[in-house]
Amino acid sequence: MLLKPFTFLAALLFTLGSLSISFAFPNFQAPNGDLLRRQGIEDSTVSQAGHGVDAPPPPGPPSFTGLKLVNDRDHPWKPLRKGDVRGPCPGLNTLASHGYLPRDGVATPTQIVNAIQEGLNMENTAAILATYLGHLLNGNQVTDLLSIGGKTPKTGPPPPAPAHAGGLNVHGTFEGDAGLTRADEFFGDNHSFNQTLFDKLVDFSNRYGGGFYNYTVAGELRYSRIQDSIATNPQFSFKNVRYITAYGETVFPVNFFVDGRVTTDRKLSMEDAASFFRDMRFPPDFHRSDHPVSNQGVDQVIAAHSWLPGGNADGKVNNYVVDPTSADFEHRCRLYDRVVEGVVGLYPSPTGILKRNLIKNLQYWYTAVNVSLGGCTQLFPFGQL
Ligand code: HEM
Repeated sequence: MLLKPFTFLAALLFTLGSLSISFAFPNFQAPNGDLLRRQGIEDSTVSQAGHGVDAPPPPGPPSFTGLKLVNDRDHPWKPLRKGDVRGPCPGLNTLASHGYLPRDGVATPTQIVNAIQEGLNMENTAAILATYLGHLLNGNQVTDLLSIGGKTPKTGPPPPAPAHAGGLNVHGTFEGDAGLTRADEFFGDNHSFNQTLFDKLVDFSNRYGGGFYNYTVAGELRYSRIQDSIATNPQFSFKNVRYITAYGETVFPVNFFVDGRVTTDRKLSMEDAASFFRDMRFPPDFHRSDHPVSNQGVDQVIAAHSWLPGGNADGKVNNYVVDPTSADFEHRCRLYDRVVEGVVGLYPSPTGILKRNLIKNLQYWYTAVNVSLGGCTQLFPFGQL
């Protein structure tokens, strides 16, 4: 089961840019704006829900992309309130709990791109790739809102089935099996922090990283979580979007959750890992990376245990069958093709503002795909504007 390491995934889950904003969310309108800027964004632009909006182009990179204190006075951590939504992504959860994203967990793609650039210094192209992937598969294309967790009326009236606008928790879209600290959908809860899995992350960090999580630990844990799912999940699926993102997300804790003042031998302490993964909270005095980052280190993870995409066949455990048609690191444009096919499956015959925004959002996503993957033939399933 072999594949060659590559560097494209900067693309898919993720590449960079630059913007120094006097405050992070220029599009956010609120009556008491000064207070909100001091304490982060309280809530999504719920007033939009129910109304069609013209999907705006994604933000560019910030002008300042250097080291910065991000656990600051303007972005205090706050506990969840009733109705606040969180999901499988510890990065987005943390940004929402500090008010870089609306604290209720419902956001526009523009807010997400701005937040992951501002709060965690994700590179611009990577930020657009990840955000629009999630939005196209799980967001509401009419209201331009995405839940970072489960389905909520706050994203507005649901689109016609089979589309769902169900948020990032929806299994088999962006969220998938063999997560680091989230269980497989087959076991019931695919999005909450799972202490047993976190204990495994700690164990592997002790065994392979001297008590810290680093790229070596990431390589071992990635492989082991695949083997866990093969042995226990009869519905294990590990292909296309999930195959690519599963590798990217293993390096994120090193690239994004280690304080930016540490520039050599970057490794994540278990205390700080728990802070992000479990508590959705920046460690005290946390500084973001001193330069824009994406999926650096992923080649090392891939090379540690090469593995091809596939899944358990016939509903049986220990029955992993490779899928030669899946996207992999040698066939990255298949990822683009599969996602577009998935979007068409969700929206077989869109009309009006829905169709218009689908065309726009696919165009925005393709622009980032083209930079990151290069050479993928653009598809226009809904026509062009
Ligand atoms: C700086 C930005 C980001 C960071 C640091 C980050 C970090 C992570 C990490 C470490 C995981 C693995 C969690 C685990 O398996 O326990 C993860 C999962 C996930 N992230 Fe993010 N992420 C970022 C941006 C995004 C964006 C923009 C989206 C989509 C809009 C997204 C959606 C997801 C989803 C759906 C999962 C679950 C995948 C799975 O099934 O394991 N993330 N993220």
